[in-house]
Amino acid sequence: MRKAYFGIEGLDRNLEKGVSYGSQLAVEGDSGIGKTVMAGEFIKEGLRCGDTCIYVACDEPPVVMREHLLSFKVGTPAYEEAGRLIFIDAYEEGESAEKYALSDHRNLEKYYALETEVLRSCAGRRVRLVVDSLSTLLTMIDAAEILEFHRTRIKKLRKNGILTMDIFVSGVLDPRLMTITGHLYNLILKMSFSHSKYSTIRQLQIGKVKSQQFVSSRHIFTISPIYGILVTADMGVGK
Ligand SMILES: Nc1ncnc2c1ncn2[C@@H]1O[C@H](COP(=O)(O)OP(=O)(O)OP(=O)(O)O)[C@@H](O)[C@H]1O
Ligand SMILES: [Mg+2]
Repeated sequence: MRKAYFGIEGLDRNLEKGVSYGSQLAVEGDSGIGKTVMAGEFIKEGLRCGDTCIYVACDEPPVVMREHLLSFKVGTPAYEEAGRLIFIDAYEEGESAEKYALSDHRNLEKYYALETEVLRSCAGRRVRLVVDSLSTLLTMIDAAEILEFHRTRIKKLRKNGILTMDIFVSGVLDPRLMTITGHLYNLILKMSFSHSKYSTIRQLQIGKVKSQQFVSSRHIFTISPIYGILVTADMGVGK
């Protein structure tokens, strides 16, 4: 079975044999920590290895990711014309110039239907789906509906072999909801700032729930304008 990678050396090294298609990855972190940078690298790696990549832009218009990819030497037009890179605009509520756009941002059913439509157009291909950020789509929705949405959606994505990266901005959703939701994902990447007297560092925690326990490893990373996320130190394994 073919495995997938993030395209981030220090992260892939910690995943032993990569992740399987059909895995669900949650990326949670503070604003400005590097979630979108990570998403860009994940897409770049997907394009490199032949996957079809879908990017759902909720927090910024799709053009921001196009420019971001360009800054990492990925020109998007050719991929978009070939149908290998698909943008879903969930940012502009009114008139979007994108082929796929979400008309009502407070309606999860509509989102689910649009996501399903786009995924159907990619049937038979290896697909990566990135939602940046899913927490934005869930802000106005009540907890019971969110859980039902997560369960139904994740089950379907897994069954269809879709490699999914759902991004969550820290502090947007109820922490209890985040804990329950976390159990649905194969891998949870938590990114956070750590402040000391003299400096601020970026931390990455790679975790998974194993026999009811959250097992994780901690790392320090920086963001380079050329290479993107660079894992610079490993800080060990914990529970
Ligand atoms: N192409 C780039 N080259 C270098 N640095 C970048 C690039 N894009 C973003 N950054 C820097 O990386 C940091 C993280 O940005 P990023 O947009 O990934 O944060 P985020 O976690 O997605 O935040 P938010 O929750 O606000 O969307 C910022 O400090 C930003 O200035
Ligand atoms: Mg972002």
